[in-house]
Order: sequence, then C-alpha cells, then structure tokens
Amino acid sequence: MEGLVKDLYALAEAARENAYAPYSGFKVGAALLTKDGKVYTGVNVENASFGATLCAERAAFAKAVSEGKREFAAIAVAAGSEKEAIPCGICRQFMYELAPEIVVITGTDKDLLNTAKLEDLLPLGFRL
Ligand code: THU
Repeated sequence: MEGLVKDLYALAEAARENAYAPYSGFKVGAALLTKDGKVYTGVNVENASFGATLCAERAAFAKAVSEGKREFAAIAVAAGSEKEAIPCGICRQFMYELAPEIVVITGTDKDLLNTAKLEDLLPLGFRL
C-alpha cells in the first residue's frame, strides 16, 4: 500500500511538467488509479477567463471517464515541494459523483504523504 501511494504520487509529480498555469504559476499534476489498475494523469489547464480553469483532478477524471472507466481507487495530487495541493470544493464534488469512497493522496514530499478519504473531505456531498 505504501509503495503504491508513493508510486501514484510520483506519477502525479511527473505529469505536473505538462501543467498549463501561466496565470497562477502553480503547476499541479494528478494521477488517478482505477480499480482495474490503470492510471490516468491530469494537469491544471488555466484560462484567461479564470473561472474556466480546469483543475488537475478533474482533467484526470475526464480522461478516465472518456475511456470508459467508472471505478476508482485513489488519486494523488502533486504541486511540488513548497505547497500541498488539496482538492478544491468543486473537485471534491466532482469526484464525489463518480468515486465517493476514493482515497486522496496529497503532500509535498514523497516520504511524507497524507492520505484522506473523500468522504471525510466532503461530508454530505450532493447527489440527485
Ligand atoms: N489547482 C489544481 O489543479 N488542483 C488543486 O488541488 C488545487 C488547485 C489549480 C487550479 C489553478 O490552476 C491553480 O491550481 C491555482 O489555484
């Protein structure tokens, strides 16, 4: 489990290179693990109309869902060694739709990662 957590974080950190963040300068990478063992990465994609910005977590989910995936085990989010990226409220609700029990891995250092259940980060998420 610990090795898996570190590996997923490493993939998020590697994906981060491709982040498009000219406005904030805050590059984020995510690596989403499906229950059948595949990994989909994502990065934040910013926009001059700031509200149109896409977070790394949602980018990873959009890729996986587009490939037909529906069952998810964990997502790692990396933003470098200075600041931990914790999923924003929109991403929490977005992930809740598809993976209410997903494990969220964050941190600034591969040897000191934090894991949390989405259900603890977002109690009482919205469902229709
Ligand atoms: N961001 C993410 O992509 N994921 C997070 O977990 C936190 C925030 C992005 C959005 C924006 O492009 C930049 O980080 C600064 O907020």
